Amino acid sequence: MERFHIIGPNRLAGTVRASGAKNAALPALAASLLTDEPVQLRRVPAVRDIRTMVRLLEHLGVACEGHEGGLRLRRTGPNRSAAEAPYELVKTMRASVLVLGPLLARFGSARVSLPGGCAIGVRPIDQHLAGLAALGAEVKLEHGYVDLSARRLIGTRFAFTTATVTGTENLLMAAVLAEGTTVLENCACEPEIADLAALLTAMGGRIEGAGESTITIEGVRQLHGVAEHEIIADRIEGGTYLIGAVISGGDVLLVDTEPADLAPLLEKLAETGARVEVEQRRIRVSHQGPLAPRDVITAPHPGFPTDLQAQYLALMTQAEGSATICETVFENRFQHVPELNRMGADIRVDGTFARVRGATALSGATVMATDLRASACLVLAGLVAGGETRVDRIYHLDRGYERMELKLQQLGAQVRRIDSADDADMSV
Ligand code: EPZ
Repeated sequence: MERFHIIGPNRLAGTVRASGAKNAALPALAASLLTDEPVQLRRVPAVRDIRTMVRLLEHLGVACEGHEGGLRLRRTGPNRSAAEAPYELVKTMRASVLVLGPLLARFGSARVSLPGGCAIGVRPIDQHLAGLAALGAEVKLEHGYVDLSARRLIGTRFAFTTATVTGTENLLMAAVLAEGTTVLENCACEPEIADLAALLTAMGGRIEGAGESTITIEGVRQLHGVAEHEIIADRIEGGTYLIGAVISGGDVLLVDTEPADLAPLLEKLAETGARVEVEQRRIRVSHQGPLAPRDVITAPHPGFPTDLQAQYLALMTQAEGSATICETVFENRFQHVPELNRMGADIRVDGTFARVRGATALSGATVMATDLRASACLVLAGLVAGGETRVDRIYHLDRGYERMELKLQQLGAQVRRIDSADDADMSV
């Protein structure tokens, strides 16, 4: 099993480019089920979740050919949803549910294993199913699978009771081939949704309002392929490196990323005293001297992203004073706290609140990653801790960060990927 070895403290300095956004690429891959023509995607991140989605799509009859930073997808399977999304694949990645909408819209049926919960929460899909039922799908739940069927999807008005990113994306991909007009209300507004809508529009879809809370879709008979769609930059990956600049007293330039997608984080970093400079698609963050503690409440976009909560919590261990972090999106997203406290942090969790008292000198330790963003948090802590930090189970990290050790090395960090099986240095 692979782990990271970090020798701290480090100061991150230099330029880094975010990979394509995992959470934009996953729905984009699922959208390839909506046509038999080739869909050409660029800036697809080489991360584990993408490889899982490729395996699932190949299982469903989509040929996926990778090339430098891109993927060419073409559905070649029989003209019906010939297969199901099996538990073995879905259990490793909840986002597998993103094939529900396309399969139903294209073939009139879909059979997908219920995703089950994960480390950060129960992760229900009731809103996905309620929305697809509103479009005319018959929903059956049995033996841990959801079976959907519909002779034809009919446009309707549907209001989500909770803003759900993948729920909005599933409904978008179903409604785009439904008969008539669909109006979706209380949609999630994350930038990844607007990126999916841009792809569906390029395929011939008719969508208004993506990225806002009300989206209107005029159904069309069929969609065509697309010659070239570039996935947007990964704002969470990029934000992680910018937090790394501040926590290490460094100076990092993040290039080719839309600053508006990171606005909540950039505003908060400036409040803590970091220097934030934005010029078109280049974001430079640097910091020296004491850090001011600032509270954060996570919220759906355009609020502070829950996917940066753990990384920001690590930063607040270095602030001069106390800060309170409130996690409102997921019910169990403070698993990184015990590991941070083992490194010398002083954090108390009370329900949805974590209270951090800083600044505390962190010392290197062997810590264990529990989920994707908790892993990134522990790496950031290891960067500034004195001595050696070993982050075990970094397969969690590899789900959403493309070769993080290489990008950190380019920023001057002493970090290596080690295969603990034989302690071979893998980061060459
Ligand atoms: C997406 O997950 C992201 N994943 C998550 O990123 C991200 O943390 C999350 O949105 C919130 O921004 C992908 O896009 C692949 P939700 P998603 O449905 O869509 C409740 C990462 O680290 N809910 O927006 O699964 C749910 O329980 C991952 O990259 C329902 O109650 O999240 C949660 O409390 C982690 N019923 C809230 O809504 C539903 O039917 C938000 O969940 C659906 C969701």
